[in-house]
Amino acid sequence: MTDRLTIRQPDDWHLHLRDGAMLTGVAPHTARHFRRAIIMPNLVPPVVRGDDARSYRQRIMAALPADTTFEPLMTLYLTENTDPDDVAAAAESGLVSAVKLYPAGATTNSDSGVRNFDKVRPVLETMARIGLPLCVHGEVTDSDIDIFDREAVFIERVLDPVLRSVPGLRVVMEHVTTKDGIDYVRSQNKDMAATITTHHLIINRNHILAGGIRPHYYCLPVAKRENHRLALREAATSGDSRFFLGTDSAPHSDPTKETACGCAGIFTAPNTMSCLAHVFEEEGALDRLEAFTSLNGPAFYRVEPNATTLTLVRGSEPVIYPDKIETGDGTVTVFDCGFNLYWRVED
Ligand code: DOR
Ligand code: ZN
Repeated sequence: MTDRLTIRQPDDWHLHLRDGAMLTGVAPHTARHFRRAIIMPNLVPPVVRGDDARSYRQRIMAALPADTTFEPLMTLYLTENTDPDDVAAAAESGLVSAVKLYPAGATTNSDSGVRNFDKVRPVLETMARIGLPLCVHGEVTDSDIDIFDREAVFIERVLDPVLRSVPGLRVVMEHVTTKDGIDYVRSQNKDMAATITTHHLIINRNHILAGGIRPHYYCLPVAKRENHRLALREAATSGDSRFFLGTDSAPHSDPTKETACGCAGIFTAPNTMSCLAHVFEEEGALDRLEAFTSLNGPAFYRVEPNATTLTLVRGSEPVIYPDKIETGDGTVTVFDCGFNLYWRVED
């Protein structure tokens, strides 16, 4: 049995680092294993203009040790007032790597998102011209659409029409959670890819609701039925270059999750690599872990894979992770995968 695996150092193509004391508390957990991460812009207020991204980047770097090799890849939050020229300038200077589309009301801090897609067409056309990827939160927000159907309906009503009307737009369907999403990505050309989270490879909707409500498994898009989880596992472990890791690690303090109306988000940064090695081993696909975590994302984003490596070691005793971390902004619960982990990242 393989008990040691060295891969190119992973990148996280979808990450929430927050700001202030929470940023300081969580950023080192990602920087420990990942060389780069696409940083989500859903702060309050959101990261809308190039100047916002520049100062947020500085705050992230200030939260990490001076000798860190971690590189935050910044994104801008698409609003109906986003200026195409500001986006183009931020992309061309190398400051931003993508723009994030939140349908208004879809998730945490998405109120400034898009309601009328005609209003953002000039920005999308500029992005298609310069090859800047659009990262999409793929859920409709209509109250009459069942929450478990919101991804599939988004593909049909929003994503497909947008792609047809803006040829050449490069799109990442973020945190895809359904077989519908996987099939849609596979039906498109090389301009379309998808990130898959660690937790959606492990939990289905029973984990959230069966035998008691478990707020630390609540995220958006919400975990779906088992057949969807299996489709995600098949896609992630297939080696198909259109699928890559975006953890969507999204810390919230315990009091904001363990309440009558709790926040959506699962904090997986500390144990993601152990969880993924476990999943890929279960699927007989350890040899394809590197493609998922370290090769497919750079290929889509048109950057070189990392030259540095990360080694995973399989021990005979379970790896112990703290079940909570303390931050200056409160205690944050670490994702409980529900089984023992034996793979650990070598220091
Ligand atoms: O679960 C989630 N948490 N999904 C999102 O789309 C946003 C994120 C957050 O920012 O907390
Ligand atoms: Zn997210």
